[in-house]
Amino acid sequence: MYDVFSLPPIRFPDGFLWGSATAGHQIEGDNVHAQAWRNEQQTDFFKDDPKHLIRAPSGKACDHYRLYREDVELIAALGHQAYRFSIEWSRIEPEEGQWNLEAVAHYVDLLVRLTAKGIRAFVTLHHFTHPLWFDRLGGFSKADNRRFFERYLAFLLPKISAYVSGWNVINEFNQWGGLTMGPEIASLKFNMLRVHGLGYHLIKLHSTAPVSSAHAFVHWFPRRFHDTLDRRMTELADFITNEFFFHALRTGELVYPGVDAEFDPDVKGALDFWSVNYYTRHMIDARRADLDGPRLHHKKLQMIPMRFYLDEMYPEGLIANLERLGDLPVTITENGCCCDDDRFRIVYLALHLSALREAIDRGVDVRGYFYWSLMDNYEWISFIPRFGLVAVDFQTFQRTPKPSASLYREIIRENGFSGETVRRYLDVLPTLSPKP
Ligand code: FCB
Repeated sequence: MYDVFSLPPIRFPDGFLWGSATAGHQIEGDNVHAQAWRNEQQTDFFKDDPKHLIRAPSGKACDHYRLYREDVELIAALGHQAYRFSIEWSRIEPEEGQWNLEAVAHYVDLLVRLTAKGIRAFVTLHHFTHPLWFDRLGGFSKADNRRFFERYLAFLLPKISAYVSGWNVINEFNQWGGLTMGPEIASLKFNMLRVHGLGYHLIKLHSTAPVSSAHAFVHWFPRRFHDTLDRRMTELADFITNEFFFHALRTGELVYPGVDAEFDPDVKGALDFWSVNYYTRHMIDARRADLDGPRLHHKKLQMIPMRFYLDEMYPEGLIANLERLGDLPVTITENGCCCDDDRFRIVYLALHLSALREAIDRGVDVRGYFYWSLMDNYEWISFIPRFGLVAVDFQTFQRTPKPSASLYREIIRENGFSGETVRRYLDVLPTLSPKP
């Protein structure tokens, strides 16, 4: 385990923005018009987990749609200066072309309350979910469907823009299609860049706040460091999930293996800051069909009682990744740890913030940090992974801040911390479980 108690005092630049992040479907509850809700009702959803031990539908999630006023109070009490959340398209436009004004009023009220508390709102316009009707029409896999997103944004943006301090058009748009290749995947990836470009230029008509799309910045790593094939495949994985996007956004050139390159002027320069979601590294094992290999066992932490992702702390990856993004300001829009034992979260937070400081020292213009997540929530298939600074009782929906939330509040207040700060929140380091 890293020696977090010996960390030297760290301060962040003046004006550094501290916050937390969530996403609509993961916290709101009863998101019944979303494609994700429909998927969770299918028997297929439970096929790997017939006893429903891990998988569960989102149901009421954190009941945040009802409890949002209290949650704004909570965010303020925890000292957060900014809050990133997503607006559910499927609530605003539950049926094609039908606008739900109650839902619009809800999000405007959320924004007004955040603003009144001095909390800067970062809005994500698409965080993995969209209306079922849009999905049935083929969603973003059909280029022509961009017009639906365009119409939605043209309706929504004038109503909310005055309250928004930062924008994400799409969450993790570089994840779509994963590590696979071929013309269909390439056209999906091209389309996601164009959806982003479309959103960027539409937002510019209404808002002066900076615009980006959150990039899932995975640090790919060869499983066998001196193995040529593992290394080559690692470079390829990095190209198709990271560099392809950076290059396209910098130059407008869409260059993907195996298909003709294209140029799109609407993609070129279509971002004001790099929005980075960083969690851990992934091993590339070229000898496996799905490429993604097991992680290093000696650093594997049993943070939750199941095999899941984010089971390795690799803060160094944050430094290496951010050094590639020196040409624009950077905001960390997600970074966090899922664990039942909150002490891991404290260690994770301290180590990643110290890595972030190192990236700043190396010249990266990092402007803000959003911890994922404000509260325990629905992690897409399951309630088991706990990422929250705040615990949620999924029966009563009561919120209880964890010690990590108090540490984070102190870090925000001081705009920094030291090993001594960490020691006040952590009597003893959590232990690593034996090799599984
Ligand atoms: C990210 C997602 C976010 C959450 C975290 C753990 O990839 O953007 O919704 O699921 O992972």
